[in-house]
Amino acid sequence: MKPMNSPFQEIVLVCDNTRPPGAPKHSCGDHGARAMRKSLKKALKAEGLWGEKVRVLMTSCLDVCPKEGVICSFDRGETLELVDADTETDLVLARIREMCRD
Ligand code: FES
Repeated sequence: MKPMNSPFQEIVLVCDNTRPPGAPKHSCGDHGARAMRKSLKKALKAEGLWGEKVRVLMTSCLDVCPKEGVICSFDRGETLELVDADTETDLVLARIREMCRD
């Protein structure tokens, strides 16, 4: 391995894991994860925060699969949040803005 400087101050992970139909476990990817990430990216780009300040990346299962919603990881993996992608994307955006203030 060779260390590299990260070009971003913050990285937010959005679980986009999907499972086959009928799977017994929840899949965040079936609950709006991709659309939420797209919306966040668009808003952050418009505000000039996307790129050097923050990236929102899709990830596979973070192994805390909720019964509904989407799991997002903040604070370099220290914090996981269950997000309703239909109603709480603005809350995620507000949190990212706060993270980028420093
Ligand atoms: S499917 Fe999202 S945390 Fe497992």
